[in-house]
Order: sequence, then C-alpha cells, then structure tokens
Amino acid sequence: MKADLLIINAKELLTLAGSNNPRTKSKMSDLGIINNGAVAVKNDKIIDVDSTEKLINKYNNSSKIIDANNEVVMPGFVDPHTHPVFKQTRENEFEMRIKGRSYVEISQSGGGIRSSIRGVRNTSENELYKLAEKRINNMIFNGTTTLEAKSGYGLSTESEIKMLKVIKKLNENLPIDIIPTFLGAHEFPIEYKDNKEEYINILMNEMMPRIRELDLADYCDIFTEDHVYNIEQSRRILNRAKELGFKIRMHADEIKPIGGAELAAEVGAVSADHLGTASDEGIKAMLNKGVIAILLPGTIFSLGMKSYARARDMIEAGLAVALATDYNPGSCNCDSMQFIITLACLQMKMTTEEAIIASTINAAYSLGLGDKIGSLEIGKKADILIMDMPSYQYLPYHFGSNNVETVIKNGKIIR
Ligand code: NIG
Ligand code: FE
Repeated sequence: MKADLLIINAKELLTLAGSNNPRTKSKMSDLGIINNGAVAVKNDKIIDVDSTEKLINKYNNSSKIIDANNEVVMPGFVDPHTHPVFKQTRENEFEMRIKGRSYVEISQSGGGIRSSIRGVRNTSENELYKLAEKRINNMIFNGTTTLEAKSGYGLSTESEIKMLKVIKKLNENLPIDIIPTFLGAHEFPIEYKDNKEEYINILMNEMMPRIRELDLADYCDIFTEDHVYNIEQSRRILNRAKELGFKIRMHADEIKPIGGAELAAEVGAVSADHLGTASDEGIKAMLNKGVIAILLPGTIFSLGMKSYARARDMIEAGLAVALATDYNPGSCNCDSMQFIITLACLQMKMTTEEAIIASTINAAYSLGLGDKIGSLEIGKKADILIMDMPSYQYLPYHFGSNNVETVIKNGKIIR
C-alpha cells in the first residue's frame, strides 16, 4: 500500500490514543506509547499507527520516508491561551517587577494592558500582522501546531475588529491553525475609567454583536479580577455573550480568589484559565459542569509570584487540566510550550505524562478540536513532532533550549 509519508523508527511513539473526551485522573497518565513505532500519513491525515516493522511491510510503496532515528515522536503542541497581536514589548515592566513593583501597581500607573492598547490603536493592520507573524513563527519553531489567539488590546469596536482581522489573516496564511477569541473585556480603556457602565454597554450592544455578525470569533473571554471586571460585571457580560452565541473562556482567579472559577461553572464556560488562587468550591463547581482548567505557570513565573495553581488537587478532584503559554507582552513573553511543561512539572508537581496530555489532547478539547487533533490516531490531522530526545522524560528535564527537531502540520514538514 502507499502512504504519502511514513515516519519510522520512533523509539517511543506517544500516540495518546484513548477515549473521545478530555482526559482526567489516571487517564492523564496514559501516553499510549508504541515502542519502535511508526505513523503513516495520506494527504493531511494519519492513516495508520503501529510498529515500524508492521508499517514498513504494509506501506512498502510510500512517497516519502522519515527515519526518526530512535527518537521520540509525539503530537504537535496545542497552545490554548495566547495574546500574540500587539505593537511594543514591555520589558521595562519586567524590570520594574524585578525591582519590587507588582503587576497590578504597574497597570494602575499607566503601564500594563493600557500601554498595549495605545500601541494597537496607533498601529496599522499590516504592521500588527508582520509583528505577530514573527512571534507565531517562533511558536512553530518550538513545536506549536495549533494556537488560540485573543484580541483585547484594542478595546474599541474598530481596533478590536482590526486585531481579529489580523488573527484571521494569520490563520489563512501561516501553516498552523489559529483559533480566534474576542477579549474586549480585558481592561477598561482609559477614556471610560470613570464611566465603566458606558464601556460595558458598548461591549455588550455594539462590539459583541458586530463581531458575531462579521464571524470573527466563536469564543468570548474576559479578565475577571478585582482591579478589572468584578464578578457582577463579568456575569452580565458573559450572559450577553452566550445570548449572542459565543462560547466562553475566562481569565479567572489569577491574583485574588474572587469566585471566578465558580462563575465559569455557572455560565458554562468551556475553560477557566489561570486559577492560581481558585477555591475548593470553585474547583468542585468546575468539575460538576465539566469546565476545563487551563493552567498558565509561565505567567506566575514571569510575574515572580508564588501562587501556582493547585494542579495536583485539580487532577485528583477529576478536572481535565490543560496547559498554555499565555504568550503576551506583559505578564508572560514565553513562546515555548516545552518550557511551560518544565514549569508545570517542577512548580505544580504535574508528572511528565500529565503535562504532555495537558499540552496536546486536553488543550485540543478546550478548543473544541479534540476529535481532530491532539493525539496520533487514525483519522486525525497529521500534526506531528519529531523530538531530539532519547525518552519522553527528557522533555521537562532539558529546558531552556528547543527539543523539537521536525514539525509536521497537516502532513507537511513546516520546520
Ligand atoms: O493573561 N491577565 C490578563 N491578560 C494577560 C496579561 C496581559 C497583559 O499584561 O498585557 C494575562 O496574563
Ligand atoms: Fe491571558
């Protein structure tokens, strides 16, 4: 038989084969490893997964063979929470934090998200596109094959649409899949700082309907936190988003435990993200409603904080946990899911197996793509990484450089 591409001699082929739902509890430890494995690809899909011996015999007439040379082969990383569209980077704030100022203090004195808003408003769609393209190419270099990308640095109808158009074009032109999220409730723009109700009104009755009309985003996100959108404001905004047909993601309980996790459950969010200070009740409520916990340890690391999310308690309670970079100019300028896996293992005591599941199949489910990507199974997209590693345990252990050797997206080598 003929395949377009046959990858052979994977010392460990991490298939992640398993049930058709987000992985929880002990299923977060099952990587479905085939020793000396192989994958056969036709067009953009996986058509077979088995031992090298079997697939070499079965597909003896393949167009292209890649020898993985006894290395690790695994699904491409899925990064389900990023903010890659912005003008200027904010390393000055990083330096201020080293010297002792906090993220909230910096944002309240004119820096933070508001400084990125000034940048986006004053920059053309083309220039924003070029800047984001370069950042996303770095993510691809680090093994990301599917990405969620948020707006949220425009905060006017016009500039939010500009950001979402940039994301749409990036998805069309770059070789990976990019899922857009509307984040108009990321902050209150400076011109509405004393008239928050008016901004909420514009958000709910102008921006959100317009973005649905233009079909620029299926997901709506919000920064629920004491210094931005409180619980009552968040509830109103998210219920309106639902009414308009958006699916919900949330920045919840990052800095203070104000009940963001509970609200995520109440509104039936797909995911609640950050959760560094989420309460036991919040975790229980998320479990009851099947909300996926997306943990962002890179942000806590980069903010120099200690409040890493309680991943162990969450996994033991039965939550499906995913990981993301939170790539953004302020709180986390990290484009590598590999480094996030190292942090997840070291700082949140996730096992390597759990961190890999969280960065692939569970992240895929959080984007509604669990049936298409996130594992190496027949019928799924051929999004595959060949890793320069002798074992999968090497992934968190060897940090600070890139373990990815080859990136395959939709059956094509893109790196
Ligand atoms: O996820 N928390 C809100 N948004 C980003 C930070 C954005 C920024 O500081 O520019 C985050 O950490
Ligand atoms: Fe974020």
